[in-house]
Amino acid sequence: MKGPNDNAIRFPKFTKKSCSKRAFVSRTSQQPTLLCLMLSISLESSMFNIMALFEPLKKLTLDCICIHNLVAIFCLVYAILKISKLIVKRNECIQALQPFLGPPKHWFFGHIREFKQDGTDLFKIVEWAESYPLAMSMWFGPFVAFLNIHHPDYVKAILTSTEPKDDLSYSFLIPWIGDGLLVSKGQKWFRHRRLLTPGFHYDVLKPYIKLMSDSAKTMLDKWDSLSERDESFELFEHVSLMTLDTIMKCAFSSNTNCQVARGGEGEINSYIKAVYDLSNLVNIRFRIFPYHSDWLFNLSPHGYQFRKACKIAQSHTEQIIRNRKEALKDEEELHRIKAKKNIDFLDILLCARDENQQGLSDEAIRAEVDTFMFEGHDTTASGISWTLYSLACNPEHQQICRDEIISALEGRDFMEWEDLSKMPYTTMCIKESLRLYPPVPGISRKTTKPITFFDGRSVPGGCLIGTSIFAIHRNATVWENPNVFDPHRFLPENSAKRSPHAFVPFSAGPRNCIGQNFAMNEMKVVIAQTLRRYHLIEDPTKKPKMIPRLVLRSLNGIHLKIKPVHLEP
Ligand code: HEM
Repeated sequence: MKGPNDNAIRFPKFTKKSCSKRAFVSRTSQQPTLLCLMLSISLESSMFNIMALFEPLKKLTLDCICIHNLVAIFCLVYAILKISKLIVKRNECIQALQPFLGPPKHWFFGHIREFKQDGTDLFKIVEWAESYPLAMSMWFGPFVAFLNIHHPDYVKAILTSTEPKDDLSYSFLIPWIGDGLLVSKGQKWFRHRRLLTPGFHYDVLKPYIKLMSDSAKTMLDKWDSLSERDESFELFEHVSLMTLDTIMKCAFSSNTNCQVARGGEGEINSYIKAVYDLSNLVNIRFRIFPYHSDWLFNLSPHGYQFRKACKIAQSHTEQIIRNRKEALKDEEELHRIKAKKNIDFLDILLCARDENQQGLSDEAIRAEVDTFMFEGHDTTASGISWTLYSLACNPEHQQICRDEIISALEGRDFMEWEDLSKMPYTTMCIKESLRLYPPVPGISRKTTKPITFFDGRSVPGGCLIGTSIFAIHRNATVWENPNVFDPHRFLPENSAKRSPHAFVPFSAGPRNCIGQNFAMNEMKVVIAQTLRRYHLIEDPTKKPKMIPRLVLRSLNGIHLKIKPVHLEP
C-alpha cells in the first residue's frame, strides 16, 4: 500500500475540499489516534481513486493541446496561403492594368473613400473620366481593381463580346436572386435566354398595355388627394408599388392589389422593403472589402440582415410559384396552356421541356422568378421616377409632351397599344431622361481571354471591366453640353450621327436587357397618363441626390408637387 506522502507526490493538486479535511485531521489531534489514521488513510486512498479517474482526462488535455497547436498551425498556413494569393492577385491586377492610368489612390483603400455616398459618387466618375476620357483603372481596396470604361468604342468591344458577368459583385446577388438569367453564364444562360425570349414577343406584350394602364390609373387616383396639397411628396415608393403591381399582373398573372393594400402588413410591402434593404446591403458588401469573403460577411450583422431580407423576398416568390402549381392541377388551367392562350412568363417556366422532356428544376424556376420580379419592377420604377422628375424640371418640354399625349388619346384617359407610336416627342424625353438618369448606372464583366481595344491597348483574361453607363451618357467627348436636358438629341437625324454604344441604358449585344420593350412600353403608358392628369412641379428645396444602389435611387427620395390638369371641354 502506498503511504500518504507517496500519494501526495503523485497527486499534488488536491481539491479545496480534501485540503480542508486534511487540515481538520491534523488540527484535531497532534498525536493521531487510530481512528484519525484510518480516516486519513481512507481519505488519501479515496483521493487516489478519484485522481486515478482523472488520469485519462489528463491525457485528453494533452491531446487537446496537441489539437489546438495543430489548428493554430493550420490557420497560420491557411492565412499565409490566403495572403500570398491576395498579393499575387494584386500584382496581377497591377500588371494587367499597367497601360491604363487612373486617378490618385490610397495604397490600401484604393478609390473607395472617394465615394462618399452623399449623392456625388457618380459625378466623381464623370469628373475623373474627363482626365481619362476612354478608360481608367479603379481600385476597391488593396486587392480588387477594375478597368472602368466610359467611351462608346471601348464599350462596344466589351458589350458585343460574350464575356461573362464579373464573378465578384454579381456573386453577391446569388443568395438572393439565384443563378438566374441576369447572373448565369455559358450554356445555362444561353438555354434560358432562348427559352424566355418568347415571353417578350410583340404578341405577348400587346395585352399588357391594358394591365399597365390600369396599374397607372390606380396610382394616379391615389395622387388626387396629394394634388390638393401645396407641398411636394416622395414619389419613388408610389411608383415602385405600381411597377410591382404591373409585373405581378403581366408576368405572373397575379392580381395582388398591392397598391391599395399599401400601409397594411401585406406581403408586397414587405417585399419592396426587402428589395430596398438587399440593394443597400449588396452595396455595403462591395464597399467593405473584408465582406468580399463569404464567411466573414455571413458572420457579420450585415450578413444576418441580408439573410433575413432574402428570406422575406424569396417567401414572396415561393408563394407565387406555389399558387400557380396548385392552379395548374386544375383541368381548365392546363387546357389554357395547352391551347397557348394568355401564356405568361411563369407558364413558360413551369411548362418548359428540353429535348429529353426534362423540365426546369425548382431551384432554376425560383431563380428566374426572383430575377424577373426584381429586374422587372425596380428598374422601371427608377426609370419612371427620374423621367417624371426630369419633366418637372423642364416644364416647357413637359407641356409639349402633354399636348402630344392629349391629341393621341382623343379624350380617353387610358392608353392603348396603337397610342404608343403616336408620342414621338414623349419617347425622346423618356430617352433623354434615361441618358441623364440611367436606371442601371453600371454593369461589369470579367474577361476570359485577352481583349484589344481600338486604340491598341489591351487587357489579359481574368480582368474585371466595369462599364459606367452613367459616365458614358455624360461623356463630354460624345455629348455636347452633357448635363443639359435636350430631347432633340434623339431626333433620328441626330441619333444617326452617334455611335450606337453612346446610349446604352439597356446595355447592348447578346446580354442586353430582355425586358427592354416591356420597360419602354410601361414607361410610355405611365408618363402619358400622368401628364394627361397632372402638372409636375419641381421642389427646389428637396433636390434629389443620386445614389447607385443596383438601380439609380435618390438618397433623399424624389419629391415633386402636382396640380390637376384642367382640360378644355
Ligand atoms: C427601364 C427599365 C430597365 C432598364 C434600364 C434595364 C436595364 C438593364 C441592363 C443595363 C441590363 C444588363 C445588365 C448587366 O449586364 O448586368 C439588363 C439586363 C436584364 N434585364 Fe433589364 N432593364 C429594365 C427593365 C427590365 C424589365 C422590365 C425586365 C423584365 C421584365 C428586365 C429583365 C432583365 C433581365 C432578365 C436581364 C438579364 C438579361 C441577360 O443577361 O440575358 N429588365 N437590364
